[in-house]
Amino acid sequence: MLFLQATAAFGLEAVVGRELEALGLPPTEKEDGRVRFDGEPADLVRANLWLRAADRVQVVAEEFDCDDYDAFYETVRTLDWTQWIAYDAAFPVTGRSVRSALGHVPTLQSMAKKAIAEALCEARGDRPGSPVPEVGPPVPIEVNVRKDRVSLLLDTTGPGLHKRGYRDLTGPAPLKETLAAGIVLLSVWTRDRPLLDPCCGTGTLPIEAALIGRNMAPGLHREFVAEGWPLAPPELWAEQRAAAEAAILPPLEKPLQGGDIDRDAVSAARRHAGRAGVGEDVHFQQRTIAEAGAKGSHGVLLANPPYGERLGDADAVHADLAALLNRLGDWSAAILTPHPAFPSMVGRKAERRRKLYNGTLACTLHQYLGPKPPALGGDPVPAG
Ligand SMILES: C[S@@+](CC[C@H](N)C(=O)[O-])C[C@H]1O[C@@H](n2cnc3c(N)ncnc32)[C@H](O)[C@@H]1O
Repeated sequence: MLFLQATAAFGLEAVVGRELEALGLPPTEKEDGRVRFDGEPADLVRANLWLRAADRVQVVAEEFDCDDYDAFYETVRTLDWTQWIAYDAAFPVTGRSVRSALGHVPTLQSMAKKAIAEALCEARGDRPGSPVPEVGPPVPIEVNVRKDRVSLLLDTTGPGLHKRGYRDLTGPAPLKETLAAGIVLLSVWTRDRPLLDPCCGTGTLPIEAALIGRNMAPGLHREFVAEGWPLAPPELWAEQRAAAEAAILPPLEKPLQGGDIDRDAVSAARRHAGRAGVGEDVHFQQRTIAEAGAKGSHGVLLANPPYGERLGDADAVHADLAALLNRLGDWSAAILTPHPAFPSMVGRKAERRRKLYNGTLACTLHQYLGPKPPALGGDPVPAG
């Protein structure tokens, strides 16, 4: 059994917890920025392939309380690193420290590096201090210290999970794919409901929704650092990728809608949807928010409107978005914005609100809940 953790942006831990539940991997612990779970090597592979809102999947190799550098070095040196790191593997070490006596990260990094090298030499019977080759597939290690508790973490993901591989062009302020997926998962959208993002930029929200609607594993078409490890051999990845391919659902009955004022953004969005394998499931059109309208009933409006100087007149755009929301009748909405006046532009407070960070920008996800679709037993009584 492996002790595993998925890291996530602040505010998305509960979403990642629910994703893990759905994978049959119930969380054992949830804290700011991380969700822990137990699993076999196949689960580590599944978590990497399937988690949509998490940043990365790590093995918790060891954990201990420590507030002294010498004790830290000695504990790291006496661990059995050969179970994780082949003698010739590269093992870059990064560090983080929060409210701890072991607060100097470069010292932690260099001490851990030296201690692990010494442990590997010792296990092989080499003279202490002999150089380790570090030519094999990397095992990235993070020394993470929180309130004097040291976690030694092995990164199984490599480039963050937001790097799905479909986005190769950028827009004015694209959402991270993991945050976009988190917003879709927090919203009431399901694959049988219409969806509109009227300022979709490079298309991240509708594309992530389409991936969810088609049950496509977001990591299906990328590589992971642990693919080079003896712990998770290539057959395991091939098996789980084949299972993920087989789980893909047919195209959505009605395509999701994306619009943007900017022609280049619309063509980037189309390109990205095609690369993500959901070109048929999302339609993009060049048009303004003021020109947008509903196609279908009981849909979900998703958006992260422009905010800040570079992105034009935020007030006018937010007012257009609020007017659209009010025009949409029986639709629900999930709008991510830091604009404090947005609820007053809509004319009412959102039924659900959640703080999320778009990069370093603190935003609120405002969720306005319309009536449930009749198929879900909702109409004619509006949902509260
Ligand atoms: C913050 S970005 C959206 C980023 C997008 N979620 C992504 O992941 O790429 C805001 C977008 O709103 C668009 N925009 C600005 N004013 C608009 C308007 N009046 N109507 C429609 N789109 C508009 C911009 O062109 C920009 O692409």
